Order: sequence, then structure tokens, then C-alpha cells
Amino acid sequence: MSAPDILRLDRLLSLLSIATRSQAQMMARKGRILVDGQEARDASARVSLDSVFTLDGEEIDTRLTHHLMMNKPAGVLTAASDRRQKTVMDLLPAKYLSLGCMPVGRLDRDTRGLLLFTTDGTLNHRLLSPRQEVSKMYEATVTGLLTQAAVRRFKEGMDFKEFSSLPAKLEILTAQPMESTARVTVHEGKYHQVKRMFSACGHEVISLNRVSFGPLSLDEGLAPGQFRALTLEELTALQEAAGIG
Ligand code: URA
Repeated sequence: MSAPDILRLDRLLSLLSIATRSQAQMMARKGRILVDGQEARDASARVSLDSVFTLDGEEIDTRLTHHLMMNKPAGVLTAASDRRQKTVMDLLPAKYLSLGCMPVGRLDRDTRGLLLFTTDGTLNHRLLSPRQEVSKMYEATVTGLLTQAAVRRFKEGMDFKEFSSLPAKLEILTAQPMESTARVTVHEGKYHQVKRMFSACGHEVISLNRVSFGPLSLDEGLAPGQFRALTLEELTALQEAAGIG
């Protein structure tokens, strides 16, 4: 969502999902809104986004674009809403949904790790575009003994009924007869891609954790379910990966 730097106060409050235009008018009349410390009695007045706004003494966050990273926990759907199941949007304050903040792609319900959210539809779209080939890295625990044969299969790319996968990188971390761990890097985001690639090599995924998305790594300080805003540097790196700017 973008907005001009100068706009009507009621329009700003409605863009921020704080109040409808008529509610904004009432709030202003009651003297509840201050702009740079002055009461704004008329919500149709034009204001600058550089000003400081308060409502009932609380500063208003006037950022219209938001970019977040979450450490998605297992057991939560990647969806905007669901009638029965908990979704990743349920883990965010409601304002993000009303501001149009959406997950960038999907992680399966049982997959955990780095999930990005953005209000910028173009950025979201470009990050998922197969043309950009933005890499995603996962740590996987799988059944059985991983061998170099699987490394080669991942490297060659694979053909499935519905899609072909580009070459991917498989690095074996531990290999035991019953269970192995590995790091996988893919450059696209096809449905159940990592699980299907392992399955094609005879391994079932026991757990999957996304540790990076393009240039961004999961912040280890985020407990499962926690999120934080991207820094300016992270956003810039992400935009570059998406071929924007
Ligand atoms: N590949 C999968 O199989 N599942 C995910 O959640 C992500 C990538």
C-alpha cells in the first residue's frame, strides 16, 4: 500500500485501519487527535506523513507498508484465515491483516521456520516468481540412510507428474541407517517440493525447518510463533533478490 506524503487526516486514519472517515471526523471533533502536538479538530484537513500523530495520547504508527519475518511453529496453517484451524495470521496482531499484510508463499502445516509477510503485493509476487529463482534453504530430518545417490538426484532436478523441479542442493549433515539430517537448497516453491524430492529418493521427511529465504536467515532470537519487522538492510537485500529497485 502506498500513499502520498500529504493527505487528508481522515484518509490516513482509514488507510491505517484505525477509523472510518466518519469515525475520524468524530474523534477529531472531540479533540482526541493531535498532529505535532496541536489538536486536529477537522479530519478533512490535509496533513503530512512526516508529522507526529497521537490518538488519546498514544502515538500512531503511520507506516503504511510492513515487512515481517516470523518463526512459524509447526501445527499452524499458512493461510489468511480458516474456519477451523489456527493460521499464521492468528499469531499476528489483527492490524496486520487489515493493513493487507500477507504471507510470502506457504509452508506446510507441519513445517516450521522462516516465513515472511509483506503488505507490498509486488514484492510478494516477485519473490515467488519462478523467474527470480529466489533460493530457500531447509534443514530436514528424514527416514533412512542418506547417500550420495540422493545428492546426485537432487542435483539433476526431478520430474513429477505435475511439475519438474530445478536442480537443488542436498548437503548431508548426519547419515544413520534409521534417520539422517540434511540441508536442502531449492530455487522455487512448488507444492510439497522438498518432501516430494526426498520421497522420490525413498526417504520420508520427519521434520522440516526453513532456515533462510533468499538473502535472509531466520533470526535465532525468535521463538516459535514470534515475529519481528525486517530491518531496512534486510528489506533492501530482499528487494534486490526480487529484482526490484
Ligand atoms: N517443501 C515442502 O515439502 N514443504 C514445505 O513446507 C516447504 C517446502
